[in-house]
Amino acid sequence: MDTRDIPSVHEYTDAWQWPESVERFIREQLPRDEDARVLNVPAGSSRLGDVLVDAEPQSEDIEEGDMMDLDLPPAEFDAVISDPPWRGMDYFDRWKQFYQLCRVTKPGGLIVYNAPWEPASDQCEVVSRHRRADHPFGEISQITVFRRYPGQQTWADFD
Ligand SMILES: C[S@@+](CC[C@H](N)C(=O)[O-])C[C@H]1O[C@@H](n2cnc3c(N)ncnc32)[C@H](O)[C@@H]1O
Repeated sequence: MDTRDIPSVHEYTDAWQWPESVERFIREQLPRDEDARVLNVPAGSSRLGDVLVDAEPQSEDIEEGDMMDLDLPPAEFDAVISDPPWRGMDYFDRWKQFYQLCRVTKPGGLIVYNAPWEPASDQCEVVSRHRRADHPFGEISQITVFRRYPGQQTWADFD
């Protein structure tokens, strides 16, 4: 996909880069299983995960993609990491983006979500909430860990 076709909600800035302490914390939330497949979208310049996607790839190992319309199969990942742009996403964008994360997560899989808001979903339950107050702009945000309900039908059943 051509980058210019992807509507970037907010362009990448280095200030968004997670500090090592946050990367370490997020790594600790991920499944221990070595075979677990992890998606990171939007990845920014993070190196966490096996498949990294962003509208503006910061390195060659990051694929171009739109977090609002992921070109990935349903129920593909054991865990999904997401740090969407905190500005510029209205209610519908937030809902649409979280829907995409749920869609690509396996039933029973985890979503580790970093934002100042907590998405509501009928597909996932909250496992834990962690407040962050270490942002350089002084913003408070939350890392919420969700589990996709096991036993629920996957989107593959509806597509
Ligand atoms: C908060 S930053 C992620 C920072 C990341 N946690 C890090 O450590 O570098 C948000 C990212 O969303 C990306 N982005 C904006 N709109 C997007 C879209 N429609 N699809 C995919 N990525 C998008 C930006 O390019 C930016 O890299």
